[in-house]
Formats: sequence, C-alpha cells, structure tokens
Amino acid sequence: MSFHTSHVITFFSILIVIRLLVLLVQAWLHPLRDVPGPFWARFSRLWYLHAVSRGDFHKINVGLHQKYDRTNAYGVPSGVGSVVRIAPGQYSIDDPEAIKIIYSHSSPFVKAPWYLASANANPESHDLFTDRNPRRHSENRRKVAALYSMTSLVAMEGYVSECTSVLFQRLSELAASAQTFDLQHWMQYYAFDVIGSITLQKRFGFLDVGADQNGLIAALHSYLVYSARVGVYSEWHPLLSKLVTLLPMSGISRLQAFAEQQISTASNNLGHEKDVSINVGQGGSFLTRLLKMHSDNPSKLTKADIFTTCITNIGAGSDTTSVSLTSVMYHLMANPSKYETLCAEIHEADKQGNLSSPYISFQEAQKLPYLQACIKEALRMHPATGLPLARVVPEGGTTLCGRFFPAGSIVGVNAWVIHSNKSVFGADAELYRPERWLESSELSSAMDRNFMAFGGGARTCIGKNISLLEIGTLVPNLIRAFHFELVDQNLEPECENVWFVKQKNIRCKVRSLQVTSDSGKNVSVNDALG
Ligand code: HEM
Ligand SMILES: *[C@@H]1O[C@H](CO)[C@@H](O)[C@H](O)[C@H]1NC(C)=O
Ligand SMILES: *[C@@H]1O[C@H](CO)[C@@H](O)[C@H](O)[C@H]1NC(C)=O
Ligand SMILES: *[C@@H]1O[C@H](CO)[C@@H](O)[C@H](O)[C@H]1NC(C)=O
Ligand SMILES: *[C@@H]1O[C@H](CO)[C@@H](O)[C@H](O)[C@H]1NC(C)=O
Repeated sequence: MSFHTSHVITFFSILIVIRLLVLLVQAWLHPLRDVPGPFWARFSRLWYLHAVSRGDFHKINVGLHQKYDRTNAYGVPSGVGSVVRIAPGQYSIDDPEAIKIIYSHSSPFVKAPWYLASANANPESHDLFTDRNPRRHSENRRKVAALYSMTSLVAMEGYVSECTSVLFQRLSELAASAQTFDLQHWMQYYAFDVIGSITLQKRFGFLDVGADQNGLIAALHSYLVYSARVGVYSEWHPLLSKLVTLLPMSGISRLQAFAEQQISTASNNLGHEKDVSINVGQGGSFLTRLLKMHSDNPSKLTKADIFTTCITNIGAGSDTTSVSLTSVMYHLMANPSKYETLCAEIHEADKQGNLSSPYISFQEAQKLPYLQACIKEALRMHPATGLPLARVVPEGGTTLCGRFFPAGSIVGVNAWVIHSNKSVFGADAELYRPERWLESSELSSAMDRNFMAFGGGARTCIGKNISLLEIGTLVPNLIRAFHFELVDQNLEPECENVWFVKQKNIRCKVRSLQVTSDSGKNVSVNDALG
C-alpha cells in the first residue's frame, strides 16, 4: 500500500468515526430520547427502511406498540407504548386524542416527505395524493370534488354493474368446473376493471381474460414497492426515478400510455362532435366530465390536470378497493356463522321484495345494516394502507400523548395499529365481529372517530364513496348468487405490505346458488342458507 492510499484510508476512517459520534451524541441529547423503540431506529433510517422492505410492517408496527405498552401494577396500560420511535425524529402513534389533533380538517400538519417518492419527480406536476402544499392541494381538490360526490355516483353505477356481470360469468364458469382459485386475483381484476371504466370509460379487460393484461397490475405493484421504500429516503427519489425510467417500459409507463390513448380518443371525438355525451358511452365517466370541464375553462383545468386526475384514480383506487373486497370476502368465509347471518339478512330482504334482480342496487344494499357492519369490520381488521400516515409537526411544536414534539418531528398513525387498540375497539378487537358496530351508538361513534381505513381530515380519501359503491353492491350480489368457501378453513392469508397490504393465496371454491337464464330471469336452484 502506498503512502498516499493509506492517508486516504485514514482520512475517510476518521470521517466515518466522526459521523458515528455525531449520530450517537444526537441520539443521546435528543429531547425525545426516552421514547421507546427498536435500538437501531435511534441512529438512522436504515432500521425503518429494512422493516418496510420486509413487507410486514403492519405487523411489526402493532407488535412495537404492544411490546412497549407495559401495564402498571393495576393492570392499566401505562401509555408508554402510545408513542414508538421508528426512525430518528419519526414516531408511530397509537392514541385517539392524537388522531384528533394530527388529522383534523384544519390541521396544520402537512404530509411528510415520504409521499414524495410516490409522486412524479417532475416538480411541476402535482397530484392530490402526494401534494405536500396544503393551499395548492385544497385548491386542486375543490376543482374535482364534484366528480366524486354522491350525485356523480348514480351515473357510475352502470359501469359497476357491467363489470359485475362479467365477473358473474367467470365465477359461474369456475363453479361449473368446481375449480379451486385465488379469490384475490378476481377481486383485483374486478377492482381494476371498475376503476378503468369509471375513469377512462374502458375496462382494462382483466375480467374478460382472467389475467393481468400488458403487465399493468405487475407494473403498479413495482411502483408501490419502489415508492414505499424510496419514501424512507425520499431525497434520493429525483435521482433514482431517473435511473428507473431508463428501464424499458418500466413502472407505470404502460398505464400512462393506456390513459393517454383513452384521453386522446375521447378528446378527438369531442372535437368532431362538439357534444361530449354523444361519443362516450354512458357519459358519466371521469374522463367525459373532465373533458367537459376543460372545454368550459381550459386554464382552470388543464390537459395535464385531466391526465393526472385519471392516473391518480387508478393508482389510488384499484389495489385499495381490491384489498378491501378481498378482506370482506375472506373474513366472511373464515367466519361461517357471520356469513350465515349475512345470508339470512339478504334472504329476508329478498323475500320481502326489497332487492332487485338481476342485481341488488347500491341504494338497496345501503338498507342492509348487517351487510354494512360486515364491510366496516373487514376494513377495520384489514385496512388497505399499512404504514403510518406520516405528517410533519408544524412550527411551534405540539403536545401529543403528554409529550412535547418539536417542529419538524414526523408523526403518524397506522390504521393497523389504532384498529387493534383494545381501549377503542374492545377487548376482543382481534376478532372479526361485525356486531360490534351495531351494539351501541355511543361505542360505534367512538369507533368511527378512530376508523382510519380511509385516512382522516383534509387528506381523507376522496374516492371513499366510489369504493363503498363498488364494495357495497358487489358483496351482497356475490353472497346472493354464489356460495364461497375457503379450501383450508384455518389458513391465515399471507400478506405483502408495499404501502397497501395485499393478500396472497386466498384459495377458495365457489358454488352457484342461482342460474341466470337468457331472459334475465333467475331460477333458484339452491337456498342461500342450505
Ligand atoms: C376501499 C378502497 C379505498 C381505500 C381503503 C382508500 C384509502 C385511502 C387512504 C387511507 C387515503 C389517505 C392516504 C394518506 O393520508 O396518505 C386515500 C387518499 C386518496 N384516495 Fe383512496 N382509498 C380507496 C379507494 C379510492 C378510490 C376508488 C379512489 C378514486 C376513484 C381513491 C382516490 C384517492 C385519492 C385521490 C386520495 C388522495 C386524497 C387527498 O389527499 O386529497 N381512493 N385513500
Ligand atoms: C390504545 O389507546 C390508549 C388510549 O385510548 C393508549 O393509552 C394505549 O397506549 C393504546 N395502545 C394499546 C396497545 O392499548
Ligand atoms: C360521501 O357521502 C356522504 C353522504 O353519504 C357525504 O357526507 C360525504 O361528504 C361524501 N364523501 C365524499 C368524499 O364525497
Ligand atoms: C323492506 O322494505 C320495507 C320498506 O322500506 C321495510 O319496512 C322493511 O323493513 C324491509 N325489509 C327488510 C328485511 O329489510
Ligand atoms: C330470482 O331469485 C330470487 C331469490 O331466489 C327470487 O326471490 C326472485 O323471485 C327471482 N326472480 C325472478 C325474476 O325469477
């Protein structure tokens, strides 16, 4: 080794030692040094990056709060575990009072830098989900809010039932051949096709062929894997995202190509016909209405806004809905007595002529309280998002769980954590028990306040009602027309947490309860309760 090289090595070694000493001293002097958490999370974000990469952070996160929530001599939780460190200056919180503060409608807590890695690296492009600027966000949210409102839903129901009818055909085939299949696949095809047709007035075609088309689902999955991890070190996103786009047709570029093609077809038609409603089928799609808004006032809603809104719908509204639908069906199959209670409710309403044929409508499904409880309970047990919804503590700092958090600290509540808190959801919080939502209005409104499946405050899911339309109509229709059964009743589903917690390998079988004849009339072959 030359004299020169050894000097260079010594120099860098000293730099590394100094850096480590600085981290140690910072950790030691930190005002929140007594907050519990994993040892390595004190010094760097690597612990969190590793935990996120393992794909089971929802479980790790619940486990951390349980581990540190030591009970005192009287068996009362000490509250120590309500705050857990997951990285230097970053905390996971398990407390209803903190939810009120962090996720209120006028909350000054902005989204944390983690969200940057989910955004387009182009600083000019802003979408609702990742925008960290509250003023720009609320302005943009106001522009499109009407498209997601209750009145818009009515126009969307046609798209939903079209997909339902294709799914029914496929399920009838699976029933006829007595095949075992993965429920998650079909719920994913359904959710993607519905959001495709609601947004771009064309289904992707997953249901038609029973498989991923053009690798779209796989592309969205790798985008999630990327964003969840790179978000931990989001300062690397501008560089990493450039490297990733060098790969041929990587990430979501296929999805973008599909969206671009649909948008240009629809806007060309618009140019020729002058009337949007003529060319675009049912007319209630996002694309139709966005194009109309654009032609009314091109500077208020630009072509780029149309594109961003459509892509965000597909990114935020497909896997989330599929995870939630899978959770509802899985929990019913895994709890046969609850499944039977739901069948009885549907059967009774049907007998009284309260449900239409061939499909139960959204309005009709809204009037089935046990169904609504089954859905809500499934979203409690398995919320779609599996990382804390991270926010930055504003100027002046804040007090949460009796501790002072200086400005710039990152705090967040993970839906999985608060949903398993026994002081909110009851001593049997780990059980799937839809009845808990129907027992007392006082208890259920306390649970409602801490129900985080759709997030909270100004950043609540804007598509909540759309997804409740999809889930609320598909589930009772599936239950009325088919009987579902797990192949292995005791199998816990495998899950992969890539921000969305996706189930895998939900092997099941299906049996038809009704045969739909050509005229649309049905013949009951088998009783739902039989
Ligand atoms: C069951 C299905 C769904 C679940 C569980 C769900 C969940 C969520 C959650 C938890 C958030 C907040 C994320 C955060 O605070 O970081 C969110 C935001 C959002 N969701 Fe959903 N979502 C669902 C369906 C949909 C659908 C169908 C759409 C679109 C049609 C959609 C569009 C959005 C958008 C645009 C945002 C960002 C809103 C904003 O920040 O203003 N979601 N969703
Ligand atoms: C649950 O919430 C309570 C406050 O209602 C909090 O004190 C407690 O630490 C939380 N966590 C657990 C595991 O109970
Ligand atoms: C969803 O519908 C309810 C009424 O059923 C309404 O209060 C709420 O504002 C709607 N949410 C969105 C995001 O449009
Ligand atoms: C059927 O609808 C009627 C009228 O809305 C209602 O009174 C009745 O309770 C409903 N029956 C069931 C089983 O939901
Ligand atoms: C369809 O099936 C349901 C439930 O078995 C039954 O109540 C209803 O009368 C049937 N509809 C027709 C048009 O046959």
